[in-house]
Amino acid sequence: MENYNLDKNSIIAIIGCGAMGSGIAQVSADYGHNTIVYDINEDVINKSKTKLFVSLDKLVEKGKFSQDKSDKIKNNIKFTTKLEDISNSSLVIEAIVENLEIKQNIFNKVEELVSPNCIIGTNTSSISIASLTSKLKYKERFLGIHFFNPAQILPLVEIIPSLLTSSDVLNQTKTLIDNWGKLTILTKDTPGFIVNRIARPFYSESIRIFEENIADVATIDWALKTISGFRMGPFELMDYIGHDVNYVVTETVWKDMFYDPRFKPSISQKRLFESGQFGLKSGKGFYDYSENAVKVIPNEDINLGNVIFMRVLAMLINEAADAVYYNIASINDIELAMTKGVNYPKGLLLWADEIGIDKILITLDNLYELYREDRYRASVLLRTMNKNNQKFLS
Ligand SMILES: NC(=O)c1ccc[n+]([C@@H]2O[C@H](COP(=O)([O-])OP(=O)(O)OC[C@H]3O[C@@H](n4cnc5c(N)ncnc54)[C@H](O)[C@@H]3O)[C@@H](O)[C@H]2O)c1
Repeated sequence: MENYNLDKNSIIAIIGCGAMGSGIAQVSADYGHNTIVYDINEDVINKSKTKLFVSLDKLVEKGKFSQDKSDKIKNNIKFTTKLEDISNSSLVIEAIVENLEIKQNIFNKVEELVSPNCIIGTNTSSISIASLTSKLKYKERFLGIHFFNPAQILPLVEIIPSLLTSSDVLNQTKTLIDNWGKLTILTKDTPGFIVNRIARPFYSESIRIFEENIADVATIDWALKTISGFRMGPFELMDYIGHDVNYVVTETVWKDMFYDPRFKPSISQKRLFESGQFGLKSGKGFYDYSENAVKVIPNEDINLGNVIFMRVLAMLINEAADAVYYNIASINDIELAMTKGVNYPKGLLLWADEIGIDKILITLDNLYELYREDRYRASVLLRTMNKNNQKFLS
């Protein structure tokens, strides 16, 4: 019987020092852990370290962080390109490229280095925890610990046990991440977990509207920010997340849902991914981030904006309703997940109640009638609730 024990003195290792790894490392170091960050690429390590230190100095200058807090984080993080340096860790969180084989490969190496009492977590957005567990020696110590971008700011963390994760590993991990000041939600090992399943139409329906030439990317972003109150438009957000991450997540969820057309990826995003036009990190994605780029001006036609808003929102609500119907999570957790994990201005189920389930159904059924595609089939739950005149939150 292994003895798992996570507390303030535990050494935490983060594998991968990209957008997510460096954010998670900051959270861990801020709590007071001795934190080791490993990356295969020395250049990435140097850049991430400089970026983190510069951002901490700026936060101190602006009076948002005390000098002590900034010093504590800097002193608690050690950056390395030697995987052996993680050997004394009690918890390893992997945040490398979203690829099953590459992740499985690193877990095998990690298992050879750490003690059997070390808990191993993955920050995967979409790969099943069961498949990531399959090649491990000690399968009960493994689980999903899914932070959101930027990890040092967004409070939500989905905790995803596999069928084989021990209850001790689950409880120890959940308690520690709660103590880090995060809001943890226990999530089933289903495609995209909660947030990345329900959020798919925010990206895919927006791209569909763009591909149909109904509106350009700037207009769709404008509509969803100005009319609906989303903090970022879908195209800005995809460029920020990176198409190497966002496209792969979409494709993985679609395949894992047995090719359900509701989750079908788009050709235009696939081409950006294939061309290495990942968005902000590569200088070009749906938008051009080069110095001389011409700013794209949206068409601020309110009627067009409303059409875009209702179409995307109806698809999002449909996904949230289906997640309730299939018992993926409770109504309360779905509302928390979407407001705290991806910063939606309002819970989708509350939004459905406010607009009216009947109106959401009409939007979906009109789309279904027009396209005759299974993509637009309405959730059974929306239909039954409409028939019975029910609301989600009352
Ligand atoms: N970007 C997001 O919005 C987001 C949000 C939640 C979860 N995630 C997930 O987090 C993980 C990392 O995403 P990211 O956005 O930080 O990616 P990223 O590309 O910014 O960083 C990945 C890092 O992993 C390193 N790396 C690649 N292969 C490695 C290996 N074999 N050993 C060690 N280091 C290796 C790379 O050098 C890079 O620094 C992915 O699984 C992704 O799905 C991403």
